[in-house]
Amino acid sequence: MSAKSDFIIRDVRIRDSEGIINLYYSYYEELGANPSLGLVLYRRKPDFRQESEWFKAAYKQIGLGNSIALVAEADGKIVGLCDVVRIKPGTSADHVGQIGIAIKKEYRSRGIGRALMSEAIKRSKGKFEQLILNVFENNRTALSLYKKLGFREFGTLRMSQKRGNRYFNEKYLYLRIK
Ligand SMILES: CC(C)(COP(=O)(O)OP(=O)(O)OC[C@H]1O[C@@H](n2cnc3c(N)ncnc32)[C@H](O)[C@@H]1OP(=O)(O)O)[C@@H](O)C(=O)NCCC(=O)NCCS
Repeated sequence: MSAKSDFIIRDVRIRDSEGIINLYYSYYEELGANPSLGLVLYRRKPDFRQESEWFKAAYKQIGLGNSIALVAEADGKIVGLCDVVRIKPGTSADHVGQIGIAIKKEYRSRGIGRALMSEAIKRSKGKFEQLILNVFENNRTALSLYKKLGFREFGTLRMSQKRGNRYFNEKYLYLRIK
């Protein structure tokens, strides 16, 4: 566990289910106000039961060594999540991890994203050899963070996301960690 002045970074625990679900739901509220939000969400908001099932399955993957999941906690609640997921366990691609991160809106730009992702990268050493991610081309904050942490672009997929009649391009990035 690592601590900073007003937040801590720690492993996900089974009892974090509700906090993580509420965090996820906050991004739906944000998307309502900001249709350009660079997060990929289900078109239909999953209900609490579906989310609980998702969390249980995701948590199991941590135990199986196929996932790393860290949260940021501040003011007694979960305000950020970063996970690294082995995309295809048991295949010739099982050295590659897909990394994802999101911080609750009110807690951004105070170092939490950088701390969370740095710790996830550190924990990935020995477990993954390469991390990949995709990011909305218009998501300057995320792109800036990823580049500062050493990620490199390897391509752009045009019109990879569609919201209503609006399309967004995504950039693809990788980080070698071996
Ligand atoms: C992208 C995100 C994870 C960054 O986390 P954060 O806690 O806001 O970022 P940090 O405060 O740790 O800052 C890290 C870097 O991001 C960039 N950044 C942060 N806030 C910024 C802002 N307001 N404007 C521009 N760049 C900013 C800077 O490059 C910063 O580097 P620094 O540490 O040298 O200042 C967070 O903003 C977020 O959750 N955004 C919405 C969801 C999302 O886009 N997730 C990524 C999907 S691919």
